[in-house]
Amino acid sequence: MNIQVTEAPFSKVRKDYIDQRRYTSPEFARLERESLWTVSWHWACREEDIPLVGDYLVYDIGDQSIVVVRTSTEAIEAFHNVCPHRGRRLLTGRGKVTRFHCVFHAWQWDLHGNNTRILDHEQWRGCAGMSTGDMALARVHVGRWAGFVFINMSAEPEPFEEFIQPAPQYLDVLRMEDMRYNWHKAIRVKCNWKVAQEAFMESYHVWGTHPQFLQYSDDKNYSLAEGKHGKHIWTYELPPGTPSRRLGKPPLSLDEVRENFADLQLAFADQLGLGNGDGQFTARSLNAASEAVRELPEGTSMEKAMETAFLAMKSAADEDGAYFPVIPPEHLGTMGHDWNIFPNLGIVWGADGTLVFRGRPDPEDPDNPDVCILEMISLLHWGKGKEPRVEIDDVDDWKNQKDRIPKLLLQDLMNIEEVQRGMHSVGLKALRPNPVQEVQITNFHQVINQYLFD
Ligand code: FES
Ligand SMILES: [Fe+2]
Repeated sequence: MNIQVTEAPFSKVRKDYIDQRRYTSPEFARLERESLWTVSWHWACREEDIPLVGDYLVYDIGDQSIVVVRTSTEAIEAFHNVCPHRGRRLLTGRGKVTRFHCVFHAWQWDLHGNNTRILDHEQWRGCAGMSTGDMALARVHVGRWAGFVFINMSAEPEPFEEFIQPAPQYLDVLRMEDMRYNWHKAIRVKCNWKVAQEAFMESYHVWGTHPQFLQYSDDKNYSLAEGKHGKHIWTYELPPGTPSRRLGKPPLSLDEVRENFADLQLAFADQLGLGNGDGQFTARSLNAASEAVRELPEGTSMEKAMETAFLAMKSAADEDGAYFPVIPPEHLGTMGHDWNIFPNLGIVWGADGTLVFRGRPDPEDPDNPDVCILEMISLLHWGKGKEPRVEIDDVDDWKNQKDRIPKLLLQDLMNIEEVQRGMHSVGLKALRPNPVQEVQITNFHQVINQYLFD
């Protein structure tokens, strides 16, 4: 067990211990602003957000704002979203430009950030550092993986290819670069960004928070650090369709487990999808699997039922012209079901879809450790030409807009604001994470420590 304990303020982290002031202290939020967000790689947007040359997206993280722009079919560049004249922000939201233009005093830059106009430039004659070269937009580094565009604001960042390891070798089989948005929620939440992120970093909470799922599946799992990132793995010692051992129920017959497995497919659609059930998986897959398993004769083994479900999902995808991952069992055993790419890209994958979660300090209130924006996203492998045009759904008052959030994720939301309140209690000595099932969280904090205190 890692028993690293250092003495810098708030830095105490062990596999069974986290100082709760890391979530509540404005001082800690300040340290994150100065030493994490401006130094580490983090996920800014999807490539599909900016498909064509000149398409841009403004990524706001706390008090920092970055413009990510496609500059050629293949190239994506990023700049600090600020005018070097007197500091006006250049752009908001997303859109298309042929050049950057500051509306305050009309300075201009090309898509690569080169200054092309300083109005009345000759009036700076004799002033140091005022050439057009000096007045380029401040460049931000870009890294790309699996359709996700990352940025890094430091002058000399850790190479992206090193930072992202070892996630690609486990997750590339999903071909997330070919997935496209299904829905994208941006929810204003009263909790620290780490509380929101950690809601999707462990499955220890399933019995307490999502008990309705235990009738379909055993919930034994463990968690691992993977470089700066982390994952947790469901062991599936008992086949899906077997109720959790925690329920203490008499064992089901083989036919009942198989029936339950068919029901589980529909539960995924009902609990983690919206509309027709697209969410963590496509409804196309879930319906096909459920139907095919129900048609199997009595006495069919679970091994056969799982193979049948897989083949039904794959042929439904094939018919639709969509990719469906074929994951060898030896790979599935180690790839991890839920990942967190440091610091705030949560990936809870299905098969032909994935949920993505991101907690980030609220750009409207960046000094406040008690608020954040929690994004919940569904990405899918769509049939050819079937991907919809998706706008971000801003959910400002989630308690009164519950129908816009999948049922199971609503249960997670119900926790996180209460966790944040609880962390302010003078009756709380420290957080005591589970050293087996919540390693992803303690590793996350130890990596944050590397940025803040090393
Ligand atoms: S602040 Fe941008 S041109 Fe003056
Ligand atoms: Fe949950």
